[in-house]
Amino acid sequence: MLEQLSEIQRAALDALDSAQDEAALEAWRVAHLGRSSALMLVFSGLGKLSPEERPQVGARANEVKKALEGALEKRQRSLEQAALERSLAEERLDVTLPGRRLPLGRLHPDTQMLRELYRVFGEMGFQVYRSREVESDEYNFQLLNFPIGHPARDMQDTFFVESRGQGGDNPILLRTHTSPGQIYAMREYAARDPDNPPPVRIVLPGMCYRYEQTDARHEIQFDQIEGLAVGPGITFSDLKGTLADLARRLFGQNVRTRFRASFFPFTEPSAEFDIECFLCNGQGCSVCGGGWLEIGGCGMVHPVVLTNGGYDPGRYTGFAFGLGPQRIAMLKYHIEDIRLFWQDDLRFLEQF
Ligand code: FA5
Repeated sequence: MLEQLSEIQRAALDALDSAQDEAALEAWRVAHLGRSSALMLVFSGLGKLSPEERPQVGARANEVKKALEGALEKRQRSLEQAALERSLAEERLDVTLPGRRLPLGRLHPDTQMLRELYRVFGEMGFQVYRSREVESDEYNFQLLNFPIGHPARDMQDTFFVESRGQGGDNPILLRTHTSPGQIYAMREYAARDPDNPPPVRIVLPGMCYRYEQTDARHEIQFDQIEGLAVGPGITFSDLKGTLADLARRLFGQNVRTRFRASFFPFTEPSAEFDIECFLCNGQGCSVCGGGWLEIGGCGMVHPVVLTNGGYDPGRYTGFAFGLGPQRIAMLKYHIEDIRLFWQDDLRFLEQF
Protein backbone atom coordinates (compact mmCIF):
# COMPACT_ATOMS: atom_id res chain seq x y z
CA MET A 1 0.00 0.00 0.00
CA LEU A 2 2.87 2.32 0.85
CA GLU A 3 4.40 1.58 -2.54
CA GLN A 4 1.11 2.26 -4.21
CA LEU A 5 1.04 5.70 -2.51
CA SER A 6 4.57 6.47 -3.78
CA GLU A 7 3.45 5.46 -7.25
CA ILE A 8 0.35 7.73 -6.96
CA GLN A 9 2.62 10.63 -5.94
CA ARG A 10 5.12 10.05 -8.78
CA ALA A 11 2.45 9.72 -11.47
CA ALA A 12 0.65 12.84 -10.21
CA LEU A 13 3.83 14.95 -10.10
CA ASP A 14 4.79 13.78 -13.63
CA ALA A 15 1.35 14.78 -14.93
CA LEU A 16 1.60 18.16 -13.24
CA ASP A 17 4.70 19.08 -15.26
CA SER A 18 2.73 18.98 -18.49
CA ALA A 19 -0.14 21.24 -17.26
CA GLN A 20 0.40 24.56 -19.05
CA ASP A 21 -2.65 26.62 -18.17
CA GLU A 22 -5.38 27.24 -15.61
CA ALA A 23 -7.79 24.72 -17.19
CA ALA A 24 -5.16 21.96 -17.26
CA LEU A 25 -4.33 22.65 -13.60
CA GLU A 26 -8.00 22.32 -12.65
CA ALA A 27 -8.31 19.07 -14.58
CA TRP A 28 -5.18 17.81 -12.79
CA ARG A 29 -6.62 18.77 -9.41
CA VAL A 30 -9.84 16.87 -10.08
CA ALA A 31 -7.89 13.80 -11.35
CA HIS A 32 -5.34 13.63 -8.53
CA LEU A 33 -6.90 15.31 -5.50
CA GLY A 34 -10.60 15.02 -6.40
CA ARG A 35 -13.12 12.85 -4.60
CA SER A 36 -12.67 9.83 -6.91
CA SER A 37 -8.91 10.18 -7.33
CA ALA A 38 -6.67 7.19 -6.46
CA LEU A 39 -5.38 9.08 -3.38
CA MET A 40 -8.85 9.80 -2.00
CA LEU A 41 -9.79 6.13 -2.53
CA VAL A 42 -6.83 5.22 -0.27
CA PHE A 43 -8.24 7.54 2.39
CA SER A 44 -11.71 6.07 2.11
CA GLY A 45 -10.24 2.53 2.29
CA LEU A 46 -8.29 3.17 5.49
CA GLY A 47 -11.05 1.64 7.62
CA LYS A 48 -10.58 -1.69 5.89
CA LEU A 49 -6.88 -1.92 6.83
CA SER A 50 -5.52 -3.73 9.87
CA PRO A 51 -4.95 -1.61 12.99
CA GLU A 52 -1.15 -1.93 12.52
CA GLU A 53 -1.16 -0.84 8.88
CA ARG A 54 -3.73 1.95 9.27
CA PRO A 55 -1.58 4.67 11.02
CA GLN A 56 1.36 4.12 8.67
CA VAL A 57 -0.75 4.25 5.53
CA GLY A 58 -2.82 7.15 6.89
CA ALA A 59 0.30 9.17 7.70
CA ARG A 60 1.86 8.41 4.32
CA ALA A 61 -1.39 9.27 2.47
CA ASN A 62 -1.46 12.64 4.29
CA GLU A 63 2.15 13.25 3.26
CA VAL A 64 1.31 12.50 -0.36
CA LYS A 65 -1.76 14.79 -0.21
CA LYS A 66 0.32 17.66 1.23
CA ALA A 67 3.06 17.10 -1.35
CA LEU A 68 0.51 17.19 -4.21
CA GLU A 69 -1.25 20.28 -2.83
CA GLY A 70 2.11 22.05 -2.40
CA ALA A 71 3.21 21.09 -5.92
CA LEU A 72 -0.12 22.33 -7.33
CA GLU A 73 0.26 25.68 -5.61
CA LYS A 74 3.87 26.02 -6.80
CA ARG A 75 2.92 25.17 -10.35
CA GLN A 76 0.05 27.65 -10.23
CA ARG A 77 2.41 30.44 -9.11
CA SER A 78 5.01 29.63 -11.73
CA LEU A 79 2.37 29.62 -14.50
CA GLU A 80 1.06 33.00 -13.28
CA GLN A 81 4.57 34.42 -13.22
CA ALA A 82 5.24 33.13 -16.75
CA ALA A 83 1.97 34.69 -17.99
CA LEU A 84 2.89 38.02 -16.41
CA GLU A 85 6.35 37.99 -17.96
CA ARG A 86 4.90 37.07 -21.35
CA SER A 87 2.38 39.91 -21.25
CA LEU A 88 5.04 42.41 -20.11
CA ALA A 89 7.24 41.39 -23.02
CA GLU A 90 4.43 41.35 -25.59
CA GLU A 91 2.61 44.49 -24.51
CA ARG A 92 5.68 46.57 -23.82
CA LEU A 93 4.92 50.32 -23.71
CA ASP A 94 7.82 52.69 -24.05
CA VAL A 95 6.69 55.64 -21.98
CA THR A 96 9.80 57.59 -22.91
CA LEU A 97 8.83 57.62 -26.62
CA PRO A 98 7.80 61.19 -27.57
CA GLY A 99 4.11 61.49 -28.64
CA ARG A 100 3.08 62.24 -32.21
CA ARG A 101 2.85 66.00 -32.69
CA LEU A 102 -0.60 67.25 -33.72
CA PRO A 103 -0.38 70.00 -36.33
CA LEU A 104 -1.79 73.10 -34.61
CA GLY A 105 -3.88 75.41 -36.75
CA ARG A 106 -3.75 79.17 -36.47
CA LEU A 107 -5.79 82.16 -37.54
CA HIS A 108 -5.52 83.38 -41.11
CA PRO A 109 -3.43 86.59 -41.35
CA ASP A 110 -6.50 88.49 -42.57
CA THR A 111 -8.50 87.31 -39.52
CA GLN A 112 -5.60 88.29 -37.26
CA MET A 113 -5.57 91.75 -38.84
CA LEU A 114 -9.35 92.13 -38.50
CA ARG A 115 -9.19 91.16 -34.82
CA GLU A 116 -6.46 93.70 -34.21
CA LEU A 117 -8.63 96.34 -35.89
CA TYR A 118 -11.65 95.39 -33.74
CA ARG A 119 -9.43 95.80 -30.69
CA VAL A 120 -8.14 99.23 -31.72
CA PHE A 121 -11.58 100.47 -32.80
CA GLY A 122 -13.04 98.98 -29.63
CA GLU A 123 -10.64 101.11 -27.60
CA MET A 124 -11.94 104.13 -29.53
CA GLY A 125 -15.54 103.26 -28.67
CA PHE A 126 -16.68 101.63 -31.96
CA GLN A 127 -18.93 98.56 -31.82
CA VAL A 128 -18.83 95.77 -34.43
CA TYR A 129 -21.97 95.58 -36.61
CA ARG A 130 -22.43 92.98 -39.36
CA SER A 131 -24.46 93.04 -42.54
CA ARG A 132 -25.07 90.75 -45.51
CA GLU A 133 -22.69 89.94 -48.39
CA VAL A 134 -25.45 89.27 -50.94
CA GLU A 135 -27.12 92.61 -51.52
CA SER A 136 -29.70 94.34 -53.61
CA ASP A 137 -28.76 97.11 -56.04
CA GLU A 138 -30.91 99.40 -53.91
CA TYR A 139 -28.72 99.03 -50.80
CA ASN A 140 -25.37 98.60 -52.53
CA PHE A 141 -25.90 101.63 -54.80
CA GLN A 142 -29.21 103.50 -54.85
CA LEU A 143 -29.59 104.35 -51.15
CA LEU A 144 -25.93 105.38 -51.16
CA ASN A 145 -26.70 108.05 -53.72
CA PHE A 146 -25.54 106.09 -56.79
CA PRO A 147 -28.68 106.46 -58.94
CA ILE A 148 -29.22 104.00 -61.79
CA GLY A 149 -26.81 104.82 -64.61
CA HIS A 150 -24.56 106.98 -62.39
CA PRO A 151 -20.98 106.93 -63.78
CA ALA A 152 -19.49 106.24 -60.30
CA ARG A 153 -20.94 102.72 -60.58
CA ASP A 154 -18.24 101.97 -63.13
CA MET A 155 -15.63 102.05 -60.33
CA GLN A 156 -17.36 99.11 -58.63
CA ASP A 157 -18.39 96.54 -61.23
CA THR A 158 -19.68 93.42 -59.52
CA PHE A 159 -21.03 89.87 -59.83
CA PHE A 160 -24.79 89.50 -60.26
CA VAL A 161 -26.56 86.65 -58.51
CA GLU A 162 -29.35 86.73 -61.09
CA SER A 163 -29.00 87.70 -64.71
CA ARG A 164 -29.31 91.33 -65.65
CA GLY A 165 -32.89 92.43 -66.17
CA GLN A 166 -34.39 89.68 -64.02
CA GLY A 167 -34.58 91.91 -60.95
CA GLY A 168 -35.58 94.98 -62.95
CA ASP A 169 -33.96 98.07 -61.47
CA ASN A 170 -33.07 96.19 -58.30
CA PRO A 171 -30.97 93.13 -59.21
CA ILE A 172 -29.36 90.91 -56.56
CA LEU A 173 -25.58 91.19 -56.46
CA LEU A 174 -22.49 90.50 -54.34
CA ARG A 175 -21.74 93.68 -52.41
CA THR A 176 -18.86 95.73 -53.77
CA HIS A 177 -18.17 97.46 -50.45
CA THR A 178 -19.31 97.37 -46.82
CA SER A 179 -21.03 100.76 -47.16
CA PRO A 180 -24.59 99.31 -47.56
CA GLY A 181 -24.23 98.32 -43.89
CA GLN A 182 -24.37 102.06 -43.09
CA ILE A 183 -28.02 102.16 -44.18
CA TYR A 184 -29.01 99.03 -42.20
CA ALA A 185 -27.23 100.30 -39.10
CA MET A 186 -28.66 103.83 -39.24
CA ARG A 187 -32.19 102.51 -39.86
CA GLU A 188 -31.89 100.10 -36.94
CA TYR A 189 -30.58 102.79 -34.60
CA ALA A 190 -33.10 105.40 -35.81
CA ALA A 191 -35.99 102.95 -35.27
CA ARG A 192 -35.19 102.95 -31.54
CA ASP A 193 -36.27 106.60 -31.31
CA PRO A 194 -37.35 108.01 -34.71
CA ASP A 195 -37.84 111.59 -33.43
CA ASN A 196 -34.55 111.69 -31.67
CA PRO A 197 -32.27 108.97 -33.18
CA PRO A 198 -29.31 107.99 -30.97
CA PRO A 199 -25.69 108.54 -32.07
CA VAL A 200 -23.98 105.78 -34.03
CA ARG A 201 -20.36 104.67 -33.67
CA ILE A 202 -19.75 101.33 -35.38
CA VAL A 203 -17.36 99.38 -37.58
CA LEU A 204 -18.70 96.97 -40.21
CA PRO A 205 -16.27 94.23 -41.30
CA GLY A 206 -16.79 91.76 -44.11
CA MET A 207 -16.09 90.30 -47.51
CA CYS A 208 -16.64 92.37 -50.68
CA TYR A 209 -16.50 91.38 -54.33
CA ARG A 210 -15.60 93.25 -57.51
CA TYR A 211 -15.33 92.20 -61.08
CA GLU A 212 -11.93 93.63 -61.81
CA GLN A 213 -8.47 93.03 -63.16
CA THR A 214 -6.31 91.53 -60.38
CA ASP A 215 -2.83 92.78 -59.57
CA ALA A 216 -0.56 93.07 -56.48
CA ARG A 217 -3.11 95.42 -54.81
CA HIS A 218 -6.42 94.18 -56.23
CA GLU A 219 -8.32 90.93 -55.80
CA ILE A 220 -11.84 90.05 -56.93
CA GLN A 221 -12.66 89.15 -53.31
CA PHE A 222 -11.33 91.20 -50.39
CA ASP A 223 -12.20 92.31 -46.89
CA GLN A 224 -13.24 95.80 -45.93
CA ILE A 225 -13.90 97.37 -42.58
CA GLU A 226 -16.34 100.23 -42.70
CA GLY A 227 -16.53 102.88 -40.00
CA LEU A 228 -19.53 105.09 -39.29
CA ALA A 229 -19.99 107.80 -36.69
CA VAL A 230 -23.18 109.87 -36.71
CA GLY A 231 -24.22 112.42 -34.14
CA PRO A 232 -24.74 116.13 -33.61
CA GLY A 233 -21.67 118.24 -34.42
CA ILE A 234 -19.34 115.60 -35.91
CA THR A 235 -16.74 117.22 -38.20
CA PHE A 236 -14.11 116.34 -40.77
CA SER A 237 -11.42 116.85 -38.11
CA ASP A 238 -13.01 114.02 -36.07
CA LEU A 239 -12.58 111.80 -39.13
CA LYS A 240 -8.96 112.88 -39.65
CA GLY A 241 -8.15 112.42 -35.97
CA THR A 242 -9.73 108.96 -35.87
CA LEU A 243 -7.86 107.62 -38.91
CA ALA A 244 -4.52 109.22 -37.99
CA ASP A 245 -4.87 107.78 -34.47
CA LEU A 246 -5.70 104.37 -35.94
CA ALA A 247 -2.47 104.47 -38.01
CA ARG A 248 -0.43 105.48 -34.95
CA ARG A 249 -1.98 102.72 -32.81
CA LEU A 250 -1.19 100.16 -35.52
CA PHE A 251 2.22 101.33 -36.71
CA GLY A 252 3.66 103.62 -34.01
CA GLN A 253 3.86 107.36 -33.37
CA ASN A 254 6.09 108.17 -36.33
CA VAL A 255 3.87 106.76 -39.06
CA ARG A 256 3.16 109.22 -41.90
CA THR A 257 -0.39 109.45 -43.26
CA ARG A 258 -2.10 111.65 -45.82
CA PHE A 259 -5.60 112.50 -47.06
CA ARG A 260 -6.16 113.04 -50.78
CA ALA A 261 -9.30 114.70 -52.14
CA SER A 262 -11.50 112.14 -53.87
CA PHE A 263 -15.08 111.42 -54.83
CA PHE A 264 -17.68 109.02 -53.51
CA PRO A 265 -21.39 109.66 -54.16
CA PHE A 266 -22.20 108.83 -50.51
CA THR A 267 -19.74 111.26 -48.85
CA GLU A 268 -19.19 114.99 -49.28
CA PRO A 269 -16.40 115.99 -49.04
CA SER A 270 -14.58 112.74 -49.79
CA ALA A 271 -10.96 111.65 -49.45
CA GLU A 272 -8.62 108.72 -49.86
CA PHE A 273 -6.52 107.78 -46.84
CA ASP A 274 -2.92 106.71 -47.50
CA ILE A 275 -0.12 105.41 -45.27
CA GLU A 276 3.51 105.78 -46.24
CA CYS A 277 4.72 102.47 -47.66
CA PHE A 278 7.13 100.68 -45.29
CA LEU A 279 8.12 98.19 -47.95
CA CYS A 280 10.08 100.82 -49.87
CA ASN A 281 10.30 103.58 -47.21
CA GLY A 282 8.24 105.83 -49.43
CA GLN A 283 10.55 105.38 -52.44
CA GLY A 284 7.86 103.71 -54.60
CA CYS A 285 7.61 99.96 -55.31
CA SER A 286 5.41 97.44 -57.13
CA VAL A 287 3.02 97.28 -54.15
CA CYS A 288 2.38 100.97 -53.49
CA GLY A 289 3.23 102.55 -56.80
CA GLY A 290 4.28 106.00 -55.60
CA GLY A 291 5.55 105.53 -52.02
CA TRP A 292 2.09 105.68 -50.37
CA LEU A 293 -0.38 102.80 -50.06
CA GLU A 294 -4.06 103.69 -50.25
CA ILE A 295 -5.78 101.82 -47.46
CA GLY A 296 -9.23 103.34 -47.60
CA GLY A 297 -11.75 105.88 -48.73
CA CYS A 298 -13.53 108.25 -46.37
CA GLY A 299 -15.58 111.42 -46.03
CA MET A 300 -18.50 113.18 -44.36
CA VAL A 301 -21.74 111.21 -44.75
CA HIS A 302 -23.77 112.74 -47.61
CA PRO A 303 -27.08 114.40 -46.53
CA VAL A 304 -28.99 112.06 -48.89
CA VAL A 305 -27.49 109.02 -47.12
CA LEU A 306 -28.26 110.44 -43.68
CA THR A 307 -31.87 110.97 -44.78
CA ASN A 308 -32.08 107.44 -46.23
CA GLY A 309 -30.83 106.14 -42.87
CA GLY A 310 -33.50 108.05 -40.91
CA TYR A 311 -31.24 110.87 -39.64
CA ASP A 312 -32.16 114.53 -40.29
CA PRO A 313 -29.13 116.16 -42.00
CA GLY A 314 -30.23 119.48 -40.48
CA ARG A 315 -29.51 118.11 -37.00
CA TYR A 316 -26.93 115.39 -37.52
CA THR A 317 -23.61 115.06 -39.30
CA GLY A 318 -21.36 112.04 -39.56
CA PHE A 319 -18.18 110.62 -40.99
CA ALA A 320 -17.59 107.28 -42.66
CA PHE A 321 -14.64 105.35 -43.97
CA GLY A 322 -14.01 102.03 -45.69
CA LEU A 323 -10.56 100.46 -45.18
CA GLY A 324 -8.88 97.40 -46.69
CA PRO A 325 -7.57 95.25 -43.80
CA GLN A 326 -5.50 93.22 -46.25
CA ARG A 327 -3.77 96.38 -47.48
CA ILE A 328 -2.99 97.20 -43.84
CA ALA A 329 -1.68 93.65 -43.29
CA MET A 330 0.49 94.04 -46.40
CA LEU A 331 2.18 97.03 -44.77
CA LYS A 332 2.40 95.42 -41.36
CA TYR A 333 3.86 92.10 -42.54
CA HIS A 334 5.62 93.27 -45.72
CA ILE A 335 3.40 91.18 -48.00
CA GLU A 336 4.12 92.03 -51.60
CA ASP A 337 1.07 90.64 -53.35
CA ILE A 338 -2.57 90.70 -52.13
CA ARG A 339 -3.34 87.59 -54.20
CA LEU A 340 -1.34 85.47 -51.71
CA PHE A 341 -4.16 85.82 -49.13
CA TRP A 342 -6.66 83.43 -50.72
CA GLN A 343 -4.25 81.07 -52.49
CA ASP A 344 -4.15 78.79 -49.42
CA ASP A 345 -0.44 78.16 -49.88
CA LEU A 346 0.84 76.83 -46.54
CA ARG A 347 4.29 78.29 -47.20
CA PHE A 348 2.62 81.70 -47.00
CA LEU A 349 0.07 81.02 -44.24
CA GLU A 350 2.55 79.33 -41.87
CA GLN A 351 4.56 82.54 -41.63
CA PHE A 352 1.89 84.20 -39.47
C1 FA5 B 1 -15.01 102.11 -51.18
O1 FA5 B 1 -15.20 100.92 -51.31
C2 FA5 B 1 -15.86 102.96 -50.33
N1 FA5 B 1 -17.05 102.26 -49.98
C3 FA5 B 1 -15.08 103.40 -49.11
C4 FA5 B 1 -15.75 104.47 -48.35
C5 FA5 B 1 -16.52 104.14 -47.26
C6 FA5 B 1 -15.63 105.82 -48.72
C7 FA5 B 1 -17.17 105.13 -46.53
C8 FA5 B 1 -16.26 106.79 -48.00
C9 FA5 B 1 -17.01 106.45 -46.91
P1 FA5 B 1 -12.74 102.06 -52.46
O2 FA5 B 1 -13.22 101.50 -53.72
O3 FA5 B 1 -11.66 103.07 -52.56
O4 FA5 B 1 -13.90 102.71 -51.64
O5 FA5 B 1 -12.23 100.88 -51.54
C10 FA5 B 1 -11.84 101.11 -50.20
C11 FA5 B 1 -10.64 100.24 -49.85
O6 FA5 B 1 -10.98 98.87 -50.06
C12 FA5 B 1 -9.44 100.48 -50.75
O7 FA5 B 1 -8.67 101.56 -50.29
C13 FA5 B 1 -8.70 99.18 -50.57
O8 FA5 B 1 -8.01 99.14 -49.35
C14 FA5 B 1 -9.83 98.19 -50.52
N2 FA5 B 1 -10.09 97.65 -51.85
C15 FA5 B 1 -10.89 98.14 -52.82
N3 FA5 B 1 -10.87 97.37 -53.90
C16 FA5 B 1 -10.06 96.35 -53.63
C17 FA5 B 1 -9.63 95.19 -54.35
N4 FA5 B 1 -10.07 94.91 -55.56
N5 FA5 B 1 -8.77 94.34 -53.75
C18 FA5 B 1 -8.34 94.59 -52.50
N6 FA5 B 1 -8.70 95.64 -51.76
C19 FA5 B 1 -9.55 96.51 -52.32
